[in-house]
Amino acid sequence: MNPGPLGPEPSALPNCATPRPCALKSTSIVYCITPMVSNTIRTLCQQAWKAIAICGIISLGQKEGDVMAEEKQLTLFERGDVEGSAPEQMSLWQAEAGSKKRSTEAAMPSWSAVAQMRAPREPTRPVEPKGLWETDIVRDYLPDLDAIAREVRDCRLCKLGRTRTNAVPGEGHPHARIMFVGEGPGADEDAQGRPFVGAAGRLLDKIIAAMDLNRKEVFIGNVVKCRPPGNRVPESDEVSACVPYLARQIELIRPDILVILGATALKALIDPKASITRMRGTWLTRSGIMVMPTFHPAALLRDPGKKVLVWEDMNKVTAWMKDINGQREE
Ligand code: SF4
Ligand code: URA
Repeated sequence: MNPGPLGPEPSALPNCATPRPCALKSTSIVYCITPMVSNTIRTLCQQAWKAIAICGIISLGQKEGDVMAEEKQLTLFERGDVEGSAPEQMSLWQAEAGSKKRSTEAAMPSWSAVAQMRAPREPTRPVEPKGLWETDIVRDYLPDLDAIAREVRDCRLCKLGRTRTNAVPGEGHPHARIMFVGEGPGADEDAQGRPFVGAAGRLLDKIIAAMDLNRKEVFIGNVVKCRPPGNRVPESDEVSACVPYLARQIELIRPDILVILGATALKALIDPKASITRMRGTWLTRSGIMVMPTFHPAALLRDPGKKVLVWEDMNKVTAWMKDINGQREE
């Protein structure tokens, strides 16, 4: 299709099921006819795309493809003349606007009125879901990962601060493309101040190696930074107090992918009601980051049958990484 003088046709127009070129191509006005039944006439001036789109309903109950001649529709929009329109359109405009008088005035702006309208600066984008790690507490006074680590080591914001030996801030590459997030430190981590260094950690190392990566290339963190006594699951007040540190780490690192290890991290970061068994292996997007939930390595130690599932999940992650690396090289 030839682009009109105002530019090329936008590849997709929001709210329009069937973008079509205008029959009078020289005007370069692009309009679209949606077969969906709606009572709204949408006008949209898209400066960025350099096209004007007018989207409207042509007739109630109309079949796709069963549309009026494009010139006729354009004339209708232009004149705003309900008297001159086809009977089925008449009834639509009347039904939509509630009265014959209001139908043309309220529902159909003229072309010249549309041309005067100010274009929205950006096309409307769907609102993206945010990860639960984004809270009202923004620790932007912590400018880098070292500052976060120092703050965490001094932190006493929740009761876990009283029983820990060492806080475990997390470690890895400051610009890691993949971040692994577990539950919280166990006995070995508490003793060393480093994440995933016990039996579960050795298994995580193997998982990372199977992905052709090493610990220095990724970032490994936890929902809570201090060991819960007896390795119990962290309580909700402890998670709420601690998660803003993780949020700041995510914000500074901006990974492409967040691998969620286990139920506690899934509930804390995605949905308190989520089930890891049901959600593992399924891509999510939160706050612009691809999220892959999988089983915690400790669960694999208890049930080695789960290893094959984690293997599948991590294959999805590596495939996706290869894909975006390829796109970045193009
Ligand atoms: Fe602070 Fe987190 Fe440790 Fe609680 S668990 S004391 S919030 S660092
Ligand atoms: N389990 C976790 O969730 N995190 C660690 O750091 C170690 C074990």
